[in-house]
Amino acid sequence: MSQLRFDGKVVVITGAGNGLGKEYALFFGKRGAKVVVNDLGGSMKGTGASSSAADKVVDEIKAAGGVAVANYDSVEFGEKVIDTAIKAFGKIDILINNAGILRDVSFEKMKDEDWDLIYRVHLKGTYSCTKAAWPYMREQKYGRIINTSSASGVYGVFGQTNYCAAKMGIHGLTLALAREGLKRNILVNSICPVAASRLTETVMSKELLANLKPEFVVPLVGVLSHDDSKETGAIYELGAGYISKLRWQRNQGYFFDTPFTPEDVRDKWEQVAGFGDNVCYPQTSSEIFEIFFNKEDFIKQQKEGKTTSAQTQQTTQAPSKRIFGLMKAFLDRGEGKDLIPKIQGVFNFEIITQKGGPVIKSWVIDLKNGQGAIKEGKEQADATFTMIDDDFEKVCLGKLQANEAFLKGQMKIKGNMKKATLFTPSLFPAPTPDNFAKYSQPKL
Ligand code: NAI
Repeated sequence: MSQLRFDGKVVVITGAGNGLGKEYALFFGKRGAKVVVNDLGGSMKGTGASSSAADKVVDEIKAAGGVAVANYDSVEFGEKVIDTAIKAFGKIDILINNAGILRDVSFEKMKDEDWDLIYRVHLKGTYSCTKAAWPYMREQKYGRIINTSSASGVYGVFGQTNYCAAKMGIHGLTLALAREGLKRNILVNSICPVAASRLTETVMSKELLANLKPEFVVPLVGVLSHDDSKETGAIYELGAGYISKLRWQRNQGYFFDTPFTPEDVRDKWEQVAGFGDNVCYPQTSSEIFEIFFNKEDFIKQQKEGKTTSAQTQQTTQAPSKRIFGLMKAFLDRGEGKDLIPKIQGVFNFEIITQKGGPVIKSWVIDLKNGQGAIKEGKEQADATFTMIDDDFEKVCLGKLQANEAFLKGQMKIKGNMKKATLFTPSLFPAPTPDNFAKYSQPKL
């Protein structure tokens, strides 16, 4: 099996003088990357500074035959950190935002200084280094960023309000950056590591710490930082050799007939706040609009006591279902009527989940008759498109060119090719949150 290599890559690791950062630095040094070892060299509470922590790791990388330089700036000044990579190696490919400190104290006793310093090192520091690296990554259309979040932030821990807020903020940054970076091959992920280090040695037992070697966190970081990775916007919890991915879950929820009162909410509390079997895993802020869209269906099913809600279907049929819903709303409002004389075609869309897999849903787009229509099913059509659900969304979002999808076999077309080329998703409103919101509102 081939080794994952990083030859020619320039990697900046913040807080690489100790703990996890040091392990990452040694790993990248051994795997061919040019490494910038950043560390302020202060205490675990964020006081003091020294160059020795970073220097020692640089020496160790060099002694093992690797290439590394040190940087001693605080991550709050990301420009200086990234500048070291640019001056020494001319670029920045991989950024591991890892530097961290703790200032644990109950919220009641927390001083502004404890709050501010944690924010500055973790969230501001992650922002600042990323902000400085971003233009280079955009320009070269390549970047891998790993942000260090924490289970503390994901779940909340007593005495760590400052740290939890910053760590969850970091994941919010990851999620938004993942979307902004996608087109330029900048992939951004978060990790929630658990490892023995000076941050944990006072709060965990010796036996536990013995199983939590920082080097056990390195393999996932290696995979997520590699050229071959496609992962972005994800968050992983890992330690002791165990790795797992986290995601959001939404319960079935309850759609109230409007207007409604606090008493109505109280009386349906189990449906509003409880989690039964009927859950879904939303991935975008726009998915809720599909539920808003399907209000009548949803309420009907609720009244019939059906467990299959619009929301559950969404888990298997999103994102194409949402997009066809949007297109349908557009045509139903008569906003697509100018398309009819221009296109004069009927198109079948077959949605599959993987290449060669069975059709999970078919849609007919009629741009020949009346003001146009979209419905589920199959009809006599001028052309039939077959696409994987995710690829369909990418084409509609402009992230994948239709001709590229066709050439790479991600989109199959049968029937009248001339007619088929007349159909492009750009005939319809783009599937953006704004458009989902706009077309979920009844037309005034
Ligand atoms: P560590 O204390 O061994 O290493 C952190 C390094 O960051 C230190 O060398 C420190 O000098 C450096 N640093 C601190 N402030 C800095 C600044 N302003 N600029 C540059 N460098 C700075 O800690 P560890 O455990 O390796 O932590 C690494 C990251 O992982 C941190 O972000 C931490 O919050 C996070 N984390 C660690 C967990 C664990 O179980 N060890 C759990 C969850 C998250």
